[in-house]
Amino acid sequence: MGYVGLCTAATFASRDIRTIGIDIDQARVEQIRRGKAPLHEPQLDSMLKNAVRKKLLDATSDISVASQTDATFLTVGTPSQSDGSINLSYIKNAAEDLGNVLREKRGYHLVVVKSTVVPGTTNGIVKRFLEQSSHKTIGSKLGLCANPEFLKEGTAISDALHPDRIVIGSNDKKSAGELAKLYRRFYGAKLPPVILTSPEAAELVKYASNAFLATKVSFINTIANIAEQIPGVDVGTIAEAIGLDPRIGPLFLKAGPGYGGSCFHKDLQALINYSQNKNYDPILFRATEEANEQQASRVVGMAEKLLGSLSSKRVAVLGLAFKKDTDDIREAASIRVINQLNKKGARVIAYDPMAIPNTKKQLLDMIDYAENAHSALKGSDCAIIMTEWDQFRQLAAKDFQAYMNNTNIVDARRILDPKHYAHLNYVAIGMGPSKA
Ligand code: UDX
Repeated sequence: MGYVGLCTAATFASRDIRTIGIDIDQARVEQIRRGKAPLHEPQLDSMLKNAVRKKLLDATSDISVASQTDATFLTVGTPSQSDGSINLSYIKNAAEDLGNVLREKRGYHLVVVKSTVVPGTTNGIVKRFLEQSSHKTIGSKLGLCANPEFLKEGTAISDALHPDRIVIGSNDKKSAGELAKLYRRFYGAKLPPVILTSPEAAELVKYASNAFLATKVSFINTIANIAEQIPGVDVGTIAEAIGLDPRIGPLFLKAGPGYGGSCFHKDLQALINYSQNKNYDPILFRATEEANEQQASRVVGMAEKLLGSLSSKRVAVLGLAFKKDTDDIREAASIRVINQLNKKGARVIAYDPMAIPNTKKQLLDMIDYAENAHSALKGSDCAIIMTEWDQFRQLAAKDFQAYMNNTNIVDARRILDPKHYAHLNYVAIGMGPSKA
């Protein structure tokens, strides 16, 4: 019942499919049973409340209930390890525990791997432990599919209700057919394209998808860094123009401080590690990651250019979340930037509408925290906009002037309109110097 499991369960239940969420964390289970989402995701809370009230969704820590259902989705985490590879112990344990409870089940049971796993995991570890503990083989009584998810934080429910595609990887027709049937019931006439393939290909689709998107972001950030050297050039215009080419497309071309979140870095590292273990070095993806890492230094470099030395300077960081509308700071560019600011002796004060509690857990009292944007700006020598929250877009030049000690602004998300800030020391990622 993590992020993926909970959103998947809630959306199934919203379409009248009776769903049970299983988690070893008893407190989380109790919270879900009360219809309260244990994490922040738009629409999830109301969907959960509704589903629990209609008795379409229940939660338990007792995995044996899985034997009373028709299908089980494995949605456990696959966290990164220090060498970039993913930790498969949770998926292994889940497959083993599930197999144990399916041993006595008479009817058919479908097992679906939704967790992000490297190619070969479903057909390897999952199949092996499931078959061993259930004393069954994949076939007439037991089904197994790999079925990756493509949910984005902040729009996960709508992504689950309106996916672009469904990818089903399986070795036997029955498993794939059963899962396709479930999705046909779920989506009805609005069924998106269904790609039927092998488990390994389905697993690779997920990595390929995230590697492509991350590379697109590092690509536009690279162009942004070049644009900054050219008077009168703004990367936004370049992105708009290239995005009109259907071969390129307009999405994921927003230059910024580098990507963050729970997936891109983790998945790229896993894919790099996986490939290298197969004796192939994917230099493109190493470059994607390196460019992303460097982007944080460029943000700090922009502040340095405005201020000279950062030592003892008060720097207001506006935004901590890895993107707007979430309290998630995992792999956020803000943390990379703050660490560098700290190393250079700056005094950092940060504000974020949602992510301060999570940041406090990680950075403790390494920095100061403000209650709103204005108090973060108060007495500061530089403001760095790190997350594209709507409320930061509302900040007018006079707000910066009224509160800041020196009006140096680094817009790492390019959310302010430069023409309104030209009389301040305003710089933005991807914006070349003015021609004059
Ligand atoms: C991503 C994938 O999009 C999703 O399909 C997958 O299942 C999980 O990983 P998510 O991590 O929620 O989703 O965030 P996403 O919206 O993809 O953004 C990732 C990062 O890239 C954010 O830090 C965002 O700010 C950054 N980004 C995105 C850019 O810097 N520029 C862009 O144009 C788009």
